[in-house]
Amino acid sequence: MLQKHGCAMCHTFTGEDSLGPTLKGIYGRPAVLASGKPILRNHAYFRQKILRSDSLELAGDRNVMPNYSTVLSTQHLDDIIAFLQHLK
Ligand code: HEC
Repeated sequence: MLQKHGCAMCHTFTGEDSLGPTLKGIYGRPAVLASGKPILRNHAYFRQKILRSDSLELAGDRNVMPNYSTVLSTQHLDDIIAFLQHLK
């Protein structure tokens, strides 16, 4: 599923950073927005970040991540987030 949408081109699920940061174990971890505000990586965070990465810029982001709002169905998005949640 994550292969199909190309996520694995830029992300690993094993802990190493690739073109994008690793997605292993990030669910539930705090992050810092570019504005300096702290944010928790919860379900709502991932929804927005995956659909429109540029609308939720983190400190250090290079705005490389494509938007998926026209590509992913709600079902696929929820599946991906559930997967990330279990990726400890
Ligand atoms: C072209 C490369 C690329 C692809 C394809 C891509 N990403 Fe990303 N992703 C990035 C980069 C780079 C970042 C860091 C933000 C930035 O610089 O844009 C990121 C950030 C993220 C984050 C936020 C990480 C954090 O620290 O909270 C999540 C979650 C994420 N991507 C999930 C996905 C998912 C799910 C897919 C597939 C549907 C995907 N990405 C596809 C490059 C990519």
